[in-house]
Amino acid sequence: MRHILPPLPILSWASQSGPRARALPCVLNSPHLVLTTSGRAAILLALEQLRIGRGDQVLLPTYHCPTMVSPAQHLGAEPLFFPITATGEPDLDWLAGQDLSRVRAMVVAHYFGMPKPMKAIRAFCDKQGIALIEDCAHSLFGIADGQPVGSWGDYAIASLTKFLPVPDGGCLASYRRELSGLRLGGRGVRSELRGLSNTIESGAFYGGMRGLNRILRALFWLKGRFRSRPATPAATSNGMEDGSAYRAARIDSKLAHRRPLMISRWFAGQAKRERIVLNRRANYLALVELFQNTPGCRPLMADLPEYAAPYVFPLWVDDPETKYQQLRQAKVPLYRWDWLWPDTPAYAGDPGMAWSRHVFQLPCHQDLTPKQLAWLATTIKAVCHSP
Ligand SMILES: Cc1ncc(COP(=O)(O)O)c(C=O)c1O
Repeated sequence: MRHILPPLPILSWASQSGPRARALPCVLNSPHLVLTTSGRAAILLALEQLRIGRGDQVLLPTYHCPTMVSPAQHLGAEPLFFPITATGEPDLDWLAGQDLSRVRAMVVAHYFGMPKPMKAIRAFCDKQGIALIEDCAHSLFGIADGQPVGSWGDYAIASLTKFLPVPDGGCLASYRRELSGLRLGGRGVRSELRGLSNTIESGAFYGGMRGLNRILRALFWLKGRFRSRPATPAATSNGMEDGSAYRAARIDSKLAHRRPLMISRWFAGQAKRERIVLNRRANYLALVELFQNTPGCRPLMADLPEYAAPYVFPLWVDDPETKYQQLRQAKVPLYRWDWLWPDTPAYAGDPGMAWSRHVFQLPCHQDLTPKQLAWLATTIKAVCHSP
């Protein structure tokens, strides 16, 4: 589905401007790094590095998207879900009372790009002999407990499509373990060309290529008319946009063992990082302002720490079911994690369950303009305010 404004970063002239210097540490600067085709592929590779398989358990949060769970399931391991605290950290008190004898790894996410305090979680994993997979899919940049995000885990994973205008990509990173033995396969010429073409097409569609937008749109329209097969999904899709949640969550093991496309690798190295961090922070703060004192909804996290580069803006909506459908119909590019893994337990008092229904994730990425943010807020407020 095409939205009125881009759900994810787009290729634009602006994406090529500004210093490469970063305002915050970046997972891509980890001492050991392998670029992957996606964040979920990186989770699969981390679990494989740990030789996790049948009979093992992997700790996962009740507040999750299915792509966080599918890699463990693919390897035959059993997910063991833990509740989160009101600020989105693992509930370590609850975990202390559990039988963890079969647990081999724990996945902890910095939700929405807000780095979590990791010291206590690291100490917990060390005490239990559990490997920590730091999920930085939402936090490519940032500082957690005084250290770069990604440095606390035995392994860290990130998702490039959420921060860069790329058709695919993720990374497996580590400050603690070598990754030199990991070899990934190449991609075919057709995939490379399709990835490049999708990136340019969505950049032109959303007006990122000033001076060329019209001609590019016309060319892609013509290409569409002569294409015999249906087009592949647009480059800027988060995998959960269209199609069933099962299809979106499925892990393609063959693809997970390949390198990302060339254009994605190029952006991983060349992206102008300062602009990404500064624009995302400015957009997040603008949304906090726009949603102050709004009946029917409120910012879930109104404070933006100085060490964070947000992925999305989490908005708590009081009456989520009808509002979500109405906003999706209005082509507002937001989503929520309402599709939970089968048999995810409902623990009393676990905010994870409530978040999966009430928290709408709104884009705040670097390519949104003040006008687009204003449209986003006005549309959502009108829907949330209505009876
Ligand atoms: C917290 C979290 N971890 C991992 C992933 C998987 O990332 P990717 O979509 O790049 O496979 C996602 C995707 O949305 C995510 O939100």
